[in-house]
Amino acid sequence: MFGARGLCHVSAADVPAAVSMRAPIPAALRSAARSGLHLRHPAFHRRRPSSVSLVCSTAAKDLEATSVSGNGASMHHGVQPTKLSTTAVHGGERAGRPRVADALTTPIVQTSTYFFRNTEELIDYNEGRFDSFEYGRYGNPTAMASEAKIKALEAAEDCLVSASGMNAVTSMLLSLVPSGGHIVTTSDCYWRTRQFMQNFLPKMNVGVSVIKPNDLEALTQALEQHNVSLFFSESPTNPYLRCVDIAAISSLCHAKGAAVCIDSTFATPVNQQALAQGADLVLHSATKYLAGHNDVLAGALCGKPELVGKVREFHHIMGGVVDPHAAYLLLRGLKTLHLRVERQNKSALEIAQRLEQHPKIDRVWYPGLESHPDHAIAKRQMSGFGGVVSFEVRGGLQECISFIDNVKLPYIAPSLGGVESLIEMPAVQSYWGFGPERRAQIGIKENLVRFSIGIEDVDDVWADLEQALEYVP
Ligand SMILES: Cc1ncc(COP(=O)(O)O)c(C=O)c1O
Repeated sequence: MFGARGLCHVSAADVPAAVSMRAPIPAALRSAARSGLHLRHPAFHRRRPSSVSLVCSTAAKDLEATSVSGNGASMHHGVQPTKLSTTAVHGGERAGRPRVADALTTPIVQTSTYFFRNTEELIDYNEGRFDSFEYGRYGNPTAMASEAKIKALEAAEDCLVSASGMNAVTSMLLSLVPSGGHIVTTSDCYWRTRQFMQNFLPKMNVGVSVIKPNDLEALTQALEQHNVSLFFSESPTNPYLRCVDIAAISSLCHAKGAAVCIDSTFATPVNQQALAQGADLVLHSATKYLAGHNDVLAGALCGKPELVGKVREFHHIMGGVVDPHAAYLLLRGLKTLHLRVERQNKSALEIAQRLEQHPKIDRVWYPGLESHPDHAIAKRQMSGFGGVVSFEVRGGLQECISFIDNVKLPYIAPSLGGVESLIEMPAVQSYWGFGPERRAQIGIKENLVRFSIGIEDVDDVWADLEQALEYVP
């Protein structure tokens, strides 16, 4: 019944019933099942195929016309996308992607488990002769399509999508750093990541060295003093948008056998290709730019299969899976990633330049400005500088609150990277519980604002920020 791998057998008579006549899904599937037509999925935890293939042989014509590439970005008729914007729309979905009732979009496969027709089929599945899914914690076709798209965008060999960025961070650290191991990280970073590294990893006998971004001497020292398994840093960082020299750091780390993981959430694959610059892994809070609409939580980890595979094994145990509906929202968001990020890059640079000229602003942190300490690195390794601008309002906490409370257009909210502009004071939003002394110790200034520009008109946004700055005494 299942002759060629990845294809099922179906007689020509079944084709009209299942596909051409566009029967409703259940009828089509029932008729398909009766006649031996079979929905095929790639195996996920035993074998990871190069693309999603919920494809039945009724679509053989399409399959023939489709060249399936390893990065899941190939299109019909052998057309290979050469630009990221095309990959963002078609990657991971056109080649061998789910085909249900001729739906143009990838369906949300809302199931927790998958059935087998008999024990023989299950054993075939176990032994790799039959591609399918088994259980929702191990894989889902919608989630796999989102993985294939992100994989294509990062030009990665493998990608694991999970329930949140923090799930990606913690699963990656717990599965790749052994007990007794050591990691090196940078001082400016998302506070929950810092909390996990500094409070939880030591309990598992993992040492942590914290260096300043781009302090290559401190990195060399740490690599000499410890048996470092992993270097982990955001680039750009949260909230000061520091950029680490990915190529230089990777070559130092690789010489000592340490892997490099870059949290590229603020950059996106549109602005930065960390793997091409030498990193072994690139991580995203897909909640932010990748999904892009402030409506879903997800995380992604891309990179070498031997590393991502280890994390996947652990992830299958820990269970932080992305929900199929969330995976769908992520897929949909990714299609406009390029458009959104290009606009956000342009608007953020404009806002950063205007803020820098404003008398009520003490300092602007934006890697696209010459005044930013990592401007040269950013220019070298990024093709755009992102949509987040951090800045210090003249005065202290109270003066900054006077500004924030009079902003009308951006929402006062955590997060970033969505279509709506968001604004926050890190001192109040994430670091309030730390108190002023600890905030000063870790470098979170009382008058700091983190602003994530959406896709609104830049002049409207500027007019709003400008009027709110008038309230700063
Ligand atoms: C740079 C960075 N990495 C990871 C995370 C965590 O992602 P999530 O909120 O999706 O768990 C965040 C959250 O703000 C972040 O800013």
